[in-house]
Amino acid sequence: MRSRKLPVIICILAVVTMCSMCRKAQTFTEEGYDSRLSGGLATVFDASSKAFTHELNGLSGNDLAAHELGDVGFEQTFVSAPAPVFGGLGPIFNNVSCVSCHHNDGKGTPTAGTATSSLLFRISNGMRDEHGGPQGMDGYGGQIQDQGLFGIQAEANMDISYVESPFTYPDGSTVNLRRPFYTMKNAYKAMAGTYYLSPRLAPPVFGLGLLENIPESTLLSFEDPADRDGDGIKGHANYVFNPQTNRKEIGRFGLKANTSTIKVQVATAYQQDMGVTSMIRTHEASWGQPQSIGISADKYDLPDSTLNAVAFYVKTLAVPARRDVADIEVKRGEAVFAQLNCGGCHRTAIRTGLDIAVPALSNQRINPYTDLLLHDMGDGLADGYDDYLANGKEWRTAPLWGIGLFEKTNGTPYYLHDGRARTIEEAILWHGGEAENAKTNFTKLTKTDRQAVIKFLRSL
Ligand code: HEC
Ligand code: HEC
Repeated sequence: MRSRKLPVIICILAVVTMCSMCRKAQTFTEEGYDSRLSGGLATVFDASSKAFTHELNGLSGNDLAAHELGDVGFEQTFVSAPAPVFGGLGPIFNNVSCVSCHHNDGKGTPTAGTATSSLLFRISNGMRDEHGGPQGMDGYGGQIQDQGLFGIQAEANMDISYVESPFTYPDGSTVNLRRPFYTMKNAYKAMAGTYYLSPRLAPPVFGLGLLENIPESTLLSFEDPADRDGDGIKGHANYVFNPQTNRKEIGRFGLKANTSTIKVQVATAYQQDMGVTSMIRTHEASWGQPQSIGISADKYDLPDSTLNAVAFYVKTLAVPARRDVADIEVKRGEAVFAQLNCGGCHRTAIRTGLDIAVPALSNQRINPYTDLLLHDMGDGLADGYDDYLANGKEWRTAPLWGIGLFEKTNGTPYYLHDGRARTIEEAILWHGGEAENAKTNFTKLTKTDRQAVIKFLRSL
């Protein structure tokens, strides 16, 4: 008897253990919600310089292997072809690896010409391409590559200078704000006509799998293009061309929500930022340049498996947990942040959709502090560069999760799309346009309340 029951018991035990291992999506009730979990189940507890570099919990063996392979690809310095692996850099490029711009998977540094430079410039003639996107400049394409392989001239270099001017609060205290000015030099050929530049500093790359998984209907429910509720905040989605699916999709990534998926973003980064071609972006960025050594579509640089792994790596980077959530000043700051209606753009309590492949991204309540929509931010931040439906004054609401850790992850922190702001306070003071009300009301707060708002943001 006993000997016949044993296999059955073993079988039942095995099934029970397997079921407890299959990570079913869990959800949190509002009451029991732990406000430290900005990324729901995809939250990790690390407030060190490596806070943005962790995979989300509960990846299966295969997924973990893919994530780790992608991690290697993200950190790998590419070299010029021919090379057995990680070849294909250039001929012209902006930097040699993903991580050299996205420092510790976080924000970049707004310098020009150094190894850590992560500010790049999009360029357009102000017209539209066949898909409604920005049309590049003749001989330059859509981005200025400021480096070239040995013997190959870069397209141009950009000099950055800042002009400082003081901002004075109604209570008399002052803060110095710096406005960037850019000068192009060493252009390899004269620009054919008027051009528009869009400076863009590398943003953090964690938590993006969650943002990709927010249902489109949720994002559209945040739109208020006619400002029906009269709060001064409009917000609308971008719709952009996806070269992989060959259709227009809602934009989520890029500083003007100018890319729809992580995979296309990664393929475009390889092509434009590093000169590495792939199955999605088959032509060199220098295509059309006199010195072009562009290759044919069937001989692109990057194996599909590397592109997939790096995209998966980015998709599965976890969000760091909040700190000091019970601190009285932080709680006060959170209440004032809500009162000022900063959350009209920097949205919380968003629920992600279903992702059967990666349960930790599925059905999570997240606090990204963004609506992924485009907002007019006023003349102060305008670049005058149109990107699909984004006009020259519009930017995607920057996610604020992790912002309190930029000092750790980047050494010296920089904020806003071009890194002009050196502190969170400076970043707030640059807000204008649809955020003018929120900014003005922030400036009218007592110094104690202003500091509380900043302390709250530092807890994110
Ligand atoms: C020269 C600097 C630079 C390099 C190199 C670079 N990036 Fe980026 N990255 C940027 C900038 C700038 C943006 C914003 C782009 C935009 O607005 O269109 C960005 C955006 C992104 C985003 C979207 C983030 C978001 O919040 O929307 C992802 C993902 C990304 N990069 C991944 C990568 C990967 C993977 C690599 C390596 C293959 C890479 N990047 C290489 C500068 C860089
Ligand atoms: C109308 C929408 C809107 C409102 C309201 C708004 N913001 Fe923003 N916020 C943005 C956008 C868009 C950006 C990115 C701007 C850029 O990069 O030039 C941003 C950027 C930021 C940044 C810098 C993020 C980074 O990573 O560099 C901080 C900090 C910030 N906002 C805080 C606030 C606070 C505090 C309030 C309320 C006083 C507020 N915002 C109100 C849209 C808004």
